[in-house]
Amino acid sequence: MKRGQFVTFEGGEGAGKSTLVSSLATYFKAKGVSVLVTREPGGTPLGERVRSWLLDPAIGKVAPETELALFLASRSENVHTVIAPALEQGKLVLCDRFNDSSVAYQGHARGLGIDVVEEVSSFFCRGLIPDLTLYLDIDPVRGLARRKQVSSVDRMEQEETSFHECLRQGYLEIARRHQDRFVILNAERSAESLLREALRILHQQLHIEMPHAMG
Ligand code: TYD
Repeated sequence: MKRGQFVTFEGGEGAGKSTLVSSLATYFKAKGVSVLVTREPGGTPLGERVRSWLLDPAIGKVAPETELALFLASRSENVHTVIAPALEQGKLVLCDRFNDSSVAYQGHARGLGIDVVEEVSSFFCRGLIPDLTLYLDIDPVRGLARRKQVSSVDRMEQEETSFHECLRQGYLEIARRHQDRFVILNAERSAESLLREALRILHQQLHIEMPHAMG
């Protein structure tokens, strides 16, 4: 069966994932590529509800296991109803965060353990693995400062700097374990430069047919 390609975007706060994902989608759509953009948590009506609970500062602290269960509930629904069907239709799927976020945040930074969270996340997602993961690396202090310029901080962003430092170490460990699909990008540069680099990597690592390549 023809299968589309699945690209995920990871990083700490304020790394510029969402901007990059939307610029890539605009680029590929203009070239006639069939693209699906989605995000975690979110992507479905249920997932967007779960997202608003998880990010609401009024919820305060929750047990790490509870937090993981909610992120995975959102993801499972997104995989079953949105991502898997789009891949079956041959689409290029661009997903803003996926299992590696759970592994880095809940597994490493919250301390549940990288191995156990990888295993549980895989179960919830029918073993779906991205073809390529772009990790946008930024110094956490600079990332949070960037974020605070554009919006108020959410429940996760309120965590102390040490949490965000630990998160970065978690991501670097995940990247080391999955070198076959992980590419680390320095996110401390302009959005244009990051887009150019991301496009270079996508073209190099994936086969993306572009019907309007000259357009
Ligand atoms: P994000 O989409 O980066 O929010 P924003 O729109 O503010 O950039 O992600 C939401 C937050 O949830 C972010 O702090 C990372 C966290 N998160 C987890 O802790 N575990 C997960 O599995 C996922 C997907 C996100």
